[in-house]
Amino acid sequence: MLKFVLSIQAIYMITREETGNSFSSKLISWYEENKRDLPWRGITDTYKIWLSEIILQQTRVVQGMDYFLRITGRFPDVKSLAEADEDEVLKYWQGLGYYSRARNLHHAARTVMSDFGGKMPVKYSELLKLKGIGEYTAAAISSFAGNDPHPVVDGNVFRFLSRYLGIAEPIDTGKGKKLFTETAGKLMDRSRAGQFNQAIMEFGALQCIPGIPDCKICPFSDSCVAFSENKQAAYPVKQNKVSVKNRYFHYFHIIIGSRTLIYKRDRKDIWQNLYEFPMIETTEAMTFEELKQTSKFQKFFGQEEALRFRIRKNKKHVLTHRIIWAVFYDVHLEKVPESLKSYQLIEEKDIDSYAIHRLMEEYLEDAAGS
Ligand code: ADE
Repeated sequence: MLKFVLSIQAIYMITREETGNSFSSKLISWYEENKRDLPWRGITDTYKIWLSEIILQQTRVVQGMDYFLRITGRFPDVKSLAEADEDEVLKYWQGLGYYSRARNLHHAARTVMSDFGGKMPVKYSELLKLKGIGEYTAAAISSFAGNDPHPVVDGNVFRFLSRYLGIAEPIDTGKGKKLFTETAGKLMDRSRAGQFNQAIMEFGALQCIPGIPDCKICPFSDSCVAFSENKQAAYPVKQNKVSVKNRYFHYFHIIIGSRTLIYKRDRKDIWQNLYEFPMIETTEAMTFEELKQTSKFQKFFGQEEALRFRIRKNKKHVLTHRIIWAVFYDVHLEKVPESLKSYQLIEEKDIDSYAIHRLMEEYLEDAAGS
């Protein structure tokens, strides 16, 4: 508590001491000298800025550049994205994970066509009306494209501000987010909001890095609380109340000559609208003998004693709030059983043209090598 009171004092001290926007000026000077040359920098195309921000919520800059160039190559404007088939959009997103982001992008592109006359909005309040655009993304787009003075607060900003001001308030609470957003807003030179936001994120990404930053070359070290206390690693503070759920997936790689069966996950759940092998989920881990007794298994395969199932792979797949314990079985069949007629029979070599999730991709990579 004392720490928190001190940090609030620090914020007021900063706003009093850092007169004439000297914080912003120092930060922006650093940025101009050190920024990376990235394909979404310096552009005013709101659509492309939006795409870059959604991609960067999902991956690191280096990998993000590839996706950005590929996606904007195929969907150069909001119209082409809106007109695309969702399957194709998901295919372009494949590998990034968190596919709801891609579905939201697609949905929002259609909203832009129907409700905004095909023109991507620039204003913060209008951007918030689009699916998948929250406060962070709206602040980034509206400040980069329109200099709207809304502060962005991402992981880089949390780290830099918490260290610099010694803010021990956890960042993963509503209260913490509000405090950091207000703090960034106070430090921002409102006439250069876009540059300030780019600069503060870049500063966190390149200079005030996780772990042990190189404070000798930091322009802010002379007034940094964490540096003065040698406690850089103690920030930012997290409350960490995420509970992780275990799920148990049993996949059937059904081999019918050169063909296999897949389906599109259509439930409102992880990997919605992505393709995978037929599967059974159980509430606990099960051996094959146990799985065989379940009604779901018997619905799929009956009491087929003659069928030879082989465990091809056990995989542990970690997502943000879940651990998927997956077992992949393979089984050779002569023809598609009646009970699996609703699944899609495809040539196995064509599976790459379907949007599949990372767990499937990893399995197929392993299977190709074994
Ligand atoms: N992370 C999030 N947005 C970014 C941007 N525009 N440039 C670099 N890194 C980022």
